[in-house]
Amino acid sequence: MDAKFRLESSFQRCEKNGLQRENPISDLLMNEKSLKELKKDNSILIDESMPVLKNLHPYLVSAGHVAILSDHKGNILLSLGEPKSLTKMQKYFLQPGSNWNEETKGTNAIGTAIIEKRSIRVHGGEHFLMQNEMITCSASPILSESQEIIGIIDISGVCHSEIPYALALTSMAAEAISNRLIVKAFRQKSSSTPKIFYLPNQIPIGETKSFPLGIYAECEPMQKCLRLASKVAPTNHTVLLEGETGTGKEEFAKFIHQKSQRSMESFIAINCGSVPEALIESELFGYSGGAFTGASVKGNIGKFQIAAKGTLFLDEICSMSLRMQAALLRAVQEKKISPVGSNKEIPTNVRIIAAANQDLNEMVKQGKFRSDLYYRLKGITISIPPLRERTDLKGLILDVLKDLDENSYSIDEEAIELLKTYDFPGNIRELQSILLQASFQTDDFLITGATISALLESKETSHFSKSSCEISTHSLEDLEKEKILKVLKLFNGNHSKASKELNIGRSTLYRKLKKYDLL
Ligand SMILES: Nc1ncnc2c1ncn2[C@@H]1O[C@H](COP(=O)(O)OP(=O)(O)OP(=O)(O)O)[C@@H](O)[C@H]1O
Ligand SMILES: [Mg+2]
Repeated sequence: MDAKFRLESSFQRCEKNGLQRENPISDLLMNEKSLKELKKDNSILIDESMPVLKNLHPYLVSAGHVAILSDHKGNILLSLGEPKSLTKMQKYFLQPGSNWNEETKGTNAIGTAIIEKRSIRVHGGEHFLMQNEMITCSASPILSESQEIIGIIDISGVCHSEIPYALALTSMAAEAISNRLIVKAFRQKSSSTPKIFYLPNQIPIGETKSFPLGIYAECEPMQKCLRLASKVAPTNHTVLLEGETGTGKEEFAKFIHQKSQRSMESFIAINCGSVPEALIESELFGYSGGAFTGASVKGNIGKFQIAAKGTLFLDEICSMSLRMQAALLRAVQEKKISPVGSNKEIPTNVRIIAAANQDLNEMVKQGKFRSDLYYRLKGITISIPPLRERTDLKGLILDVLKDLDENSYSIDEEAIELLKTYDFPGNIRELQSILLQASFQTDDFLITGATISALLESKETSHFSKSSCEISTHSLEDLEKEKILKVLKLFNGNHSKASKELNIGRSTLYRKLKKYDLL
């Protein structure tokens, strides 16, 4: 169902409910006591939403918009924004204690998102009540693990200063809050049999059992990757997925897990760059009761044991600290782990899939990645091509558009041709973002060449400013370090030849190597 049709259905519901467009906005507000009780009942939702709402704040300030959190019935629990903006919105009773369900307020983002159970933008005259035609609102439902609505996140303000992509912001915020709530619930449950697994930075990224396999691959290099992935999937070989950011490494990891005999077991992803240094061993291998200050008395199991007979996906291995590399090497090599604070050795039977978005081989040469671990993880390597090397862009564009909003959006040939000329440094993720932005800029669901051209032009400008900024932040020290590394490589690490080439004394070279941690 497209957005226009959804709004039409909402209007029909309002008429059926006896509302009239000329009706005044209901000024009913719950009293302080009831609001306090409602907030108490929703305290977990409020606690988990606050950090996300605060993150939204900078996007709201210049447009004078406010962010709103409501419960599952449309009762506003809190609103956040500049004092002037909050006062402005009070004119429309967009404030705590007011109810914005569709029955009382007519078609509106909060109430209609509750009924439609999806993100919705209601702009100006699209509101059923004419008195609301000066405001623009975008709302997204916060869903529980079982897809029930827990609350609504909304961004509202006056029409003439609309925030571009407000709906994208609310939908990302709602998803982030849902994730936080799932993680919180998970943590409160028994720690031994979790169903949702999450990165150390607390973003759930995978569930056990099945994933939809959404790999679009209609060109030879992608087909080759898919063939290789299908071939290696049923084996126990370690797989290294190489590819630029956004090329689909995680998608491939899930594919391999799904096609393996381990598919009924867990798929655990761990972002190697974001495990806090002090928690590396306990995150990976768990800990025994009371192993360190703050540890639970019952102890906890680590990712290796959670993954058990399943797959452990080591994401972003290029950002792994040396300490983590050492810890992992032992586990991968010996296929045994020891929880922190215990001298028990537990055999592991996980299948490891690793992903890297930089040239690991080069990192090994530079001493940034242990070669012993590299060769253990390398296993079967699958190099996923960047978008600019793919010849199935048109089909991929249509595939991504379908994901955006069922079959609502179409795109003309000119737009596709323009996209073919773009480099896509962020690959599929960037394509998704461009098409999402474009979809918000069309009024008739057709993405045209003009829209894409404007978006690509603005990207060029920002790339330009980015690169000029990079030049200015690229310090002389960085350049010097790079030069030293190059020369050392040229002379196979021979200090005296390198210092001659660099036109500096050996002791100066030594001092610099020490300074840049290159010894
Ligand atoms: N072949 C594909 N067809 C359709 N969508 C895809 C494909 N590959 C990836 N995607 C989508 O592109 C996005 C980025 O993919 P993914 O997260 O797997 O990339 P990544 O290589 O892990 O990126 P990063 O290095 O930044 O973590 C996801 O939304 C994913 O669903
Ligand atoms: Mg990834």
